[in-house]
Amino acid sequence: SLSRTLALIKPDAMKANHKDEIISKIKENGFTIVQEQQLLLSKEKASMFYKEHDGKPFYQDLTNWMSSAPIYALILEKQDAIQSWRDLMGPTDSNKARDTEPNSIRALFGTDGSQNATHGSDSQTSADREIALIFGEESSVEKEESR
Ligand code: CMP
Repeated sequence: SLSRTLALIKPDAMKANHKDEIISKIKENGFTIVQEQQLLLSKEKASMFYKEHDGKPFYQDLTNWMSSAPIYALILEKQDAIQSWRDLMGPTDSNKARDTEPNSIRALFGTDGSQNATHGSDSQTSADREIALIFGEESSVEKEESR
């Protein structure tokens, strides 16, 4: 059935002006954009968003970077939305993506293994948590009611 995931366009892709091209790809691939918003994350919110990576060597750089400049957040809806969006993004490392999935979003619009253009939720539990964190609890309530 239809499900929802959270997509973020990260600061590298925003600064390189790739937002509109990424949104075109999202629409071409059959996703419905349920909500969208440009925002600047606080360091605190970025740390909560990535809490599963707390303790990893890249955690501080990642959360500093994600709160350093505007990002663009989208709630995407589609059949099997989480896996479908991850397939469209391609591998985490944009350099690897260019070798293996040259038409993927991270291959086309990302930089390297940390600045990789976009984020996608990795499970339904993560998607629900991330959507609530970015768009507020109301957006998850709305989803529960429409199930
Ligand atoms: P994302 O899908 O948003 O989830 C975690 C993020 O951490 C990832 O994309 C990258 O931006 C970053 N990341 C993952 N692995 C590494 C790594 N080995 N070194 C630096 N950054 C990483």
